Amino acid sequence: MRYKAIIFDLDGVICHTDRYHYLAWKGLADKLGVYFDEEINNRLRGVSRMDSLEIILERYHGEELSQTNKEELADEKNEIYKQILKRMTSDDLSPVVKNTLDMLREKGMKLAIGSSSKNARLILKQIGLLNYFDVISDGTNITYSKPNPEVFIKAAYELDISPSECLVVEDAVTGVEAAKAGGMDCAAIGNAVTSQSADYKLIDFSELLNVASLDNRNIAIR
Ligand code: BG6
Ligand code: MG
Repeated sequence: MRYKAIIFDLDGVICHTDRYHYLAWKGLADKLGVYFDEEINNRLRGVSRMDSLEIILERYHGEELSQTNKEELADEKNEIYKQILKRMTSDDLSPVVKNTLDMLREKGMKLAIGSSSKNARLILKQIGLLNYFDVISDGTNITYSKPNPEVFIKAAYELDISPSECLVVEDAVTGVEAAKAGGMDCAAIGNAVTSQSADYKLIDFSELLNVASLDNRNIAIR
């Protein structure tokens, strides 16, 4: 097979927590009187919590905020977000995603998570995948978030597989950039298909089975 491992982004790839991030940030933005929409939300994909806040505050015209104020605002958003996460169940994992993961594993592929989120383990627990992946690399073990490749490099290192034999799956343009900066191929899905740097563009998650088993770059490119 072309790859020995696949490193999956979590939010917006394995499950639709990208929607929940949007709802939580929208709650905070409304309270601050800051304009926020789906297009701005797309810029937050793959970006750390504090960096996301800075993007939202680009449209803030209220009193000056100290670092402590900003940390409080980020905590407030995270509390709203965690309340939503508490309601997640295995129903938030689509059968297509679960079946594709199972089939990749049956083919002998190593599977890892590479997410900027500090809530990654909580989400995986909620959807019943906490003990599923060979490696979980997340926002709790990195200094730099995407587009820095750190989270993916750490995943490859823990898998003991060279970056050139890893495929990353991403819904964020910053995530595609991170994968390429780490010397990995990248399959883009959702919002990331706009990226010029993606090696594959997926319409459906199950197309990963073609990408993984055939050494043919054109198969899933559209
Ligand atoms: C990424 C999301 O996976 O995690 C970003 O795409 C988010 O939108 C980032 O800001 C950090 O998440 P958390 O859960 O640590 O606030
Ligand atoms: Mg994502």
